[in-house]
Amino acid sequence: MVITLGAVVAYSVYITFHISGLKALQKDISDRNRRDSLQLLRVQNDLNSVALAMRDMLENEEPYPLTAWRAQFQRIRSDLDDALKREAQLAIARQTPEQSEFLASSLAQFWDAVDRMFALASNGNEAGAREQIRITLQARQAALSTVVARLLVQNNERDEQASRQVAQIYDRVQRQVYLFLIAILAAILFTSLYLIRSNRRLFARLAFLSNQRSELAQKLIAAQESTLRHISRELHDEFGQILTAVGSMLARAEKHAPQDSPLRPELREVNEIAQATLENVRTLSQALHPVMLDTTGLESTLDWYIRTTEKQTGIKISYEKSGAGFRVNGNSGIHIYRVVQEALNNVVRHSGAKQAWVRLRFLEDALELEVEDHGKGFALPPSNSGIGLVAMRERAELLGGSIDFSRPGEGGTRIRLHVPRKRADSRAAV
Ligand SMILES: Nc1ncnc2c1ncn2[C@@H]1O[C@H](COP(=O)(O)OP(=O)(O)O)[C@@H](O)[C@H]1O
Ligand SMILES: [Mg+2]
Repeated sequence: MVITLGAVVAYSVYITFHISGLKALQKDISDRNRRDSLQLLRVQNDLNSVALAMRDMLENEEPYPLTAWRAQFQRIRSDLDDALKREAQLAIARQTPEQSEFLASSLAQFWDAVDRMFALASNGNEAGAREQIRITLQARQAALSTVVARLLVQNNERDEQASRQVAQIYDRVQRQVYLFLIAILAAILFTSLYLIRSNRRLFARLAFLSNQRSELAQKLIAAQESTLRHISRELHDEFGQILTAVGSMLARAEKHAPQDSPLRPELREVNEIAQATLENVRTLSQALHPVMLDTTGLESTLDWYIRTTEKQTGIKISYEKSGAGFRVNGNSGIHIYRVVQEALNNVVRHSGAKQAWVRLRFLEDALELEVEDHGKGFALPPSNSGIGLVAMRERAELLGGSIDFSRPGEGGTRIRLHVPRKRADSRAAV
């Protein structure tokens, strides 16, 4: 791209330089030619005046002697000299030396003859002088006129030739510009195609990697859930049963012990410890994976969880349910439950709000969950410290639904999870 642009700039400068040079040249040539032609016309005019004067001298109707024309000839001569001097300067590069010499010598001869004619006239030989005019001067004047006329024609031809040359050069430049434009367009096309191709490849690779990452994350989440569920079950069932059994055995042993035996209070104390441990194990089991989710369903699990969170964190949570409820299957329930859990955790940890809203909507063909707070909202740019938000998205994917994060009118954060009913409803065919 840079090379292409550089070439365009360099070529533009080159073309501009040449065209302006050409223009100057053209202007110079035509200017000189024009001025040269003007001087030649002046010469021609002078020669005509000479011709007229000579005709008058020959007609002999005037009462003056021939010498009376001397002053007029003198004036014409000096004007001619001046015009020829200027012409010689302008035409210096174009006229061949022979041409200039011929013109100069013809003129010199002409003026010599004029001088001789006036000499005859002033010596009283008017007839001889007129003879001189007729025989020599008129012929020389005519020859001079022809030379000047030829020079004028030459000038004109030269002008035409120059403009033909310039036109040819312009044509050449134009052709070059077209060729260059085609080359540039081809280069741009090639570069663009290359860019599009490599971008496509890059995007395909990105999409592939992103899919892989998402798949991995979802597998991890699923594995984690099944492990937690397993441990939770084990704790609840195995340890719960054992501890319950230990408790009732201790109670029986206490009953069988003599009334005043010191064993009794100790047995009771151990029993109380066993009861407390049983409670702890149940709570832990519930925290790892709410057994309620599989037994009584999502709605009541959320009821319980929200009440507990309110108590534990001191945040007021308004819980609203709407629509005709349906039972959510355990597989989807756990993900929805985790989204609520993470969203409420974030409200507590990041929003600074003292109130939150949880809305569960049973729609015709979907389940919608909203968690909202009016706290400080997401910081911009969002910090990437945690993976809570990432996990929420992956869970939404696992549910075949979508999740979006927005800012409610009052400020803060609103998270909305949308799950199609056919994935959430336990009675729907999956
Ligand atoms: N309700 C909220 N209010 C304000 N900021 C939030 C909220 N939820 C999340 N955030 C911001 O988004 C970031 C990422 O959240 P998350 O992925 O859950 O990670 P973590 O909670 O471990 O920091 C948080 O660090 C916080 O800055
Ligand atoms: Mg978090």
